[in-house]
Amino acid sequence: MSTQPWITTSVGINMPCFIYGTAWKKARTADLVVQALLAGFKGIDTAGQPKHYDETLVGVGLQRAKQQGIPRETLYLQTKFTSPSGQDPNHIPYDKTAPIQEQVAQSFAKSQQNLQTDYVDGLILHSPFATHAQTLQAWRALETIQRAGGARQLGISNCYNLNVLQALYTDAKIKPAIVQNRFYKDTGYDVALRHWCTEYGIIYQSFWTLTANPHILNSETVRNLAAHHHQTPAKIFFRYLHQVGIVPLTGTKSEQHMQEDLAIFDFSLTGDEVIKLSLLLQANTD
Ligand SMILES: NC(=O)c1ccc[n+]([C@@H]2O[C@H](COP(=O)([O-])OP(=O)(O)OC[C@H]3O[C@@H](n4cnc5c(N)ncnc54)[C@H](OP(=O)(O)O)[C@@H]3O)[C@@H](O)[C@H]2O)c1
Repeated sequence: MSTQPWITTSVGINMPCFIYGTAWKKARTADLVVQALLAGFKGIDTAGQPKHYDETLVGVGLQRAKQQGIPRETLYLQTKFTSPSGQDPNHIPYDKTAPIQEQVAQSFAKSQQNLQTDYVDGLILHSPFATHAQTLQAWRALETIQRAGGARQLGISNCYNLNVLQALYTDAKIKPAIVQNRFYKDTGYDVALRHWCTEYGIIYQSFWTLTANPHILNSETVRNLAAHHHQTPAKIFFRYLHQVGIVPLTGTKSEQHMQEDLAIFDFSLTGDEVIKLSLLLQANTD
C-alpha cells in the first residue's frame, strides 16, 4: 500500500496530500468511504448538501472504518456549509428562512450529527455569497464554530475571483487556510489566485481535475510522460499537481483507481517535466 505524505497548513493542521471526495456516491457512500480508507486515503471531503452528498452514510463509513482499526482521530475530515442557492429546495439541512449565521450553525450541527463527530478538521464555505457582506456573515458563523472547537481550520470553495478572496482574507478574523476550486481552463487554472494563495499560506485543493481536462490527459506531452514513467496519464497529472503544491481530490469509485491515485507518491517528475506541464496548462487556457 502506498503511503501518502501530509502537509501542515498555515494554522498548524496536518492535511493529507490527496483527499477522497464523497460526492455522487448515493447508497454506495459508506462502502466507498471504507474502501478508500482501507486503500490508504486519510482525508475525506463531504458537504452538508444532500443534493450531492450523503453525509449520514459518510458517518456510517467512518464508524465502520473505526471498527476495522482506523480511528477517526487519525483522519482528516472536512465538510462544507452550502447556502440555500446550492441546495435542493426540498432537502435543505437547516431553516432557509433563518438569518445566515443561524443557517450555518444549524447546518454544522446537522453535519456533526451525520458524521458522528464533535469536530471536523476543515470547514468550508461552499461558495461565496452574492455580496461580500453576506459572505462575511457566513464567515463569522464559521469563525464562531472554530472558536468553539467544532472546526480546526476554515476554507472557501468555488472562489475564482481573487478580489473576492482578498476581501474575505482582509476582513476575516480567522483567515482561510484552504481554497477548494474546480481546476479548469475557463479560469486559467487559477494561476494568479494560486500564486496569491501560496504567498498567504493558503492550500489550494482541486476538484474536477480529471473530468475537466481530457485535452490535457490526451495531450502528446502527458502521453509521452506517461510512457516514459510507465504511469497512466491520470497519475502523471495528479503527480504534477502534487509537485506544484496542490492537494487534489478524487472521488473514484474504482478500487484500481484508488490504488493508482495513491501510487502517485511512488514516483516523481523532474523539474523540467513540471515546467513542461505548467506551460501546457498555460497554452490551454481560454
Ligand atoms: N467544492 C465543490 O463545489 C465540489 C464540486 C465537485 C466535487 N467536489 C469534491 O471533489 C471530489 C472529486 O470530484 P471530481 O469532480 O474531481 O470528480 P470525481 O468524482 O473524482 O470523478 C473523476 C472521474 O475520473 C475517474 N478517475 C478517477 N481516478 C482515476 C484514475 N486514476 N484514472 C482514470 N480515471 C480516474 C473517475 O472514474 P472511476 O470512478 O471509474 O474511477 C471519474 O469518472 C468530489 O467527490 C467532492 O468531494 C467539490
